[in-house]
Amino acid sequence: MQNMSRRSLIAGIIALPAIFALPVLFRSKGASAATLKVTPTQVDGPYFLPNAPFTKRFIPQGMAGQEIHVSGTVVDVNGAVIPGATVHVWVASPTGVYDNQDAAGRPMRIPPAQQTLRGRIITDAQGAYAFECLRPGNYELGNGMMRPAHIHVMVEARGFQTLITQLYFTDDQFNKKDLPGPGFFTPELLVPLTPAAPAPNQIQSGTYQIVLAR
Ligand SMILES: [Fe+2]
Repeated sequence: MQNMSRRSLIAGIIALPAIFALPVLFRSKGASAATLKVTPTQVDGPYFLPNAPFTKRFIPQGMAGQEIHVSGTVVDVNGAVIPGATVHVWVASPTGVYDNQDAAGRPMRIPPAQQTLRGRIITDAQGAYAFECLRPGNYELGNGMMRPAHIHVMVEARGFQTLITQLYFTDDQFNKKDLPGPGFFTPELLVPLTPAAPAPNQIQSGTYQIVLAR
């Protein structure tokens, strides 16, 4: 009887790791065991347009600037990829002006043909997105207050909360001087680009994983 109990106990101990390992079978490839942190939300600003062209490249003809390529995956907090998500991206020009901004800085309605600094990307079967743009410039908010350069991103996916956020650059002098509060600069939204110091006409690229909440 004592032997039986000991045998049951040993069998139980051996079986335990197998039980704990089970959820691994249902996780997507490459997902970590830990729950991922949802990507922080940011202010959207006044320049979003819902009907941007479906394009991954929004570099206006003849506009000079540093070309950057950003790619990544849209996932849930368990690391499962989200195919078919709509990733809206909009940026200021290298001189800090949006395509739908009038001379006084106000947003204006413009047809899709004039929407040259924005695009919509649909994530593929692996939840992947990618886009190409020029590095946006800093712009003034008023009172001499400069915003760090940023890329506006909105992600919509069925069954998930819509995410509105901004991505930042590691070397921007205004990162630490952005407005205080949860809607502005945070190191969690930095996209490291390589090479860090590009040669003339050299493209910089970086990756960023976007995590959505249900
Ligand atoms: Fe902005």
